[in-house]
Amino acid sequence: MTQDHTRPDRNLALELVRVTESAALACAPLVGRGDKEAADQAAVDGMRYALHSVRMDGTVVIGEGEKDEAPMLYNGEHIGDGSPPEVDIAVDPLEGTTLAAHGMPSALAVIALSAKGTMFDPGPCVYMEKMAGAQEISDLLDLDRPLAETVELIAQRKGHQIGDVMVVVLDRPRHEQGIKEIREAGARVRLIAHGDVSAALLAVSERSPVDLLWGIGGTPEGVISAAAIKCMGGQILGRLWPRNDEERKAALDAGYDVSRILDRDDLVSGDDIFFSATGVTDGDVLQGVRYPSAGGATTESLVMRSRSGTVRRIRATHDRTKLRALGGHDRFG
Ligand code: FBP
Repeated sequence: MTQDHTRPDRNLALELVRVTESAALACAPLVGRGDKEAADQAAVDGMRYALHSVRMDGTVVIGEGEKDEAPMLYNGEHIGDGSPPEVDIAVDPLEGTTLAAHGMPSALAVIALSAKGTMFDPGPCVYMEKMAGAQEISDLLDLDRPLAETVELIAQRKGHQIGDVMVVVLDRPRHEQGIKEIREAGARVRLIAHGDVSAALLAVSERSPVDLLWGIGGTPEGVISAAAIKCMGGQILGRLWPRNDEERKAALDAGYDVSRILDRDDLVSGDDIFFSATGVTDGDVLQGVRYPSAGGATTESLVMRSRSGTVRRIRATHDRTKLRALGGHDRFG
């Protein structure tokens, strides 16, 4: 992407907000309905519908899987009308499918764009170990140091008692030992059922109730979190975590170094990243879709650009009756 720095240029994030709003509005009618596949499909359809309006030459790097398993927004799919800029695209139309299906907090619709060739491609690796925190503690993050020492260092840096420190962790058996170490050190743990993108956003936010994100979660979610963190400030570290020997071999054969610690710049190396997330269900970071009236809806989105560092929170009201008429379908409930 070439820019004329003498005047403001196009901020794609302001167009992307319509994309995540569309995904959130489309799946909101399925919140709490117990069907995560249907909710995800609705979000994909809603995202795809609005993506048509964004002029770009995009390739999905982080998407809904391979072409044969995902008819839309699959990895490698070309999106846009082919006009500049040339970008990599990371999408998670519904981050937290189970959260949405169960009407639980913190489901999001999310998209990030960065210059072509600048997003880490996770290849065969489904999971990575992650640690994320705000700028103030970014130099203290370390995936090799015992967690007990890291939380102690965080308390010292912040001038807090160790018992003030809160670490957000996905509630999984694979984290039992780590959770034990954090608790034995005297720090606190906030367990979440799903949604470590939302948790990463929370961990790097100002005046956050959470100091650190730690644990093994999705690699695509790690790349998306890195894109957001490059806009908001803070750091994320990730290390690929093959689930078995077969996945390890596939990663090694494809040239991945599974012992390497990746930071936010390794995960997204571009310096002009555009990011938008819209709340699907209410969470600490964003309010979910609400229906204040029979034909209305409200959304809240976080809309950011790394180069300028501008972070916008956009609250929108939508007229579902008009949207239905415009789209000629029932997409928005
Ligand atoms: P989905 O939206 O695909 O359901 O992912 C939700 C999520 O909780 C992510 O936030 C997280 O990175 C990943 O799943 C953890 O994977 P798992 O549930 O397999 O432990």
